[in-house]
Amino acid sequence: MKIAVFSSKPYDSQFLDAANTRYGYELVYIESHLNEITASLTKGFDAVCVFVNDDLGSETLEVLHSAGVRWVALRCAGFNNVDLEGAERLGIGVVRVPEYSPYAVAEHAVALMLSLNRKIHRAHNRIREGNFSLNGLLGFDLHGKTVGVIGTGKIGQVFAQIMKGFGCPTLAFDPYPNDRCKELGVKYVGLDELLGESDIISLHCPLNKDTKHVVNASAISKMRDGVMLVNTSRGGLIDSLALINGLKSGRIGSVGLDVYEEEEDLFFEDLSNTVIQDDVFARLMTFPNVLISSHQAFFTSNAMEKIANVTFANLEQLAKGMDCPNKVTIQR
Ligand code: NAI
Repeated sequence: MKIAVFSSKPYDSQFLDAANTRYGYELVYIESHLNEITASLTKGFDAVCVFVNDDLGSETLEVLHSAGVRWVALRCAGFNNVDLEGAERLGIGVVRVPEYSPYAVAEHAVALMLSLNRKIHRAHNRIREGNFSLNGLLGFDLHGKTVGVIGTGKIGQVFAQIMKGFGCPTLAFDPYPNDRCKELGVKYVGLDELLGESDIISLHCPLNKDTKHVVNASAISKMRDGVMLVNTSRGGLIDSLALINGLKSGRIGSVGLDVYEEEEDLFFEDLSNTVIQDDVFARLMTFPNVLISSHQAFFTSNAMEKIANVTFANLEQLAKGMDCPNKVTIQR
């Protein structure tokens, strides 16, 4: 099988090559994102292996189909970047890695939360400059603070479990509450109640038409003054302009972001010698109480190994005409 691996970085080839010793696929690494233009590189390939910021809209899928590509293997869980109807119409099978390490993402959300609260990012910079003052570094005890979790699937559940260890009463909103969270003592409430009662809110739901901009001006107006907001899920869950207004007014006390709605042109790249053109993102970077990481929550060696192994196993099942449990299907 010949596979074009788009948006590939050295760390992708490191883990994919290691996993491929069991399969012997022909892998061609392409640094560019997949889109309707780069899709024309895939003539003669059986499959493309893609990541979160590749564009698998209808135009790209048409080009892939004309080139003879039969399978799309997402090396991630989310599939909001794929036109599933288009893929089905063209007979292109789409597979994903639904779960690789909920711990990686939940732990990163906690890392953002702890760093923001105790201002570790600011302290680190100060100390390197010989500034040992504590002004502006005041945090609070997490113990006893109410944490709101939006989305209690695999990652939200692990996050809730960690919060229990911190001694934080935890509220959750999810249309499908799960028993494990209830056993942990998580209290399921309506979204408005969660927004109004939480000192810290962490987003762990998928991006879809119901959740797009779930954090908008109206939601922010219902939050507690000084609330901490953490998003390790998908950028489109937050209306960035409303977020900036919330930060300027002080309603939002601090924000940790691992994702951003226009991250495609920024994240995963070294842009240190260029001028950032996205003024909204540039404004977000100016706040002392905003901590941004570049979609790295998944990035542990455990997760990368699992992603590589599951991706190839998925493709093997498709190639053999077997049922693949990780095939992405349209929910009708
Ligand atoms: P999951 O599918 O196990 O859980 C998602 C949960 O969200 C489900 O319980 C579902 O019922 C709930 N949900 C659906 N609609 C909702 C709504 N309108 N309001 C509240 N909850 C809703 O997914 P998992 O594995 O926990 O991942 C969650 C998200 O994390 C993914 O969709 C992905 O966007 C993001 N993610 C981010 C990564 C990163 O590196 N930053 C890595 C992996 C996933």
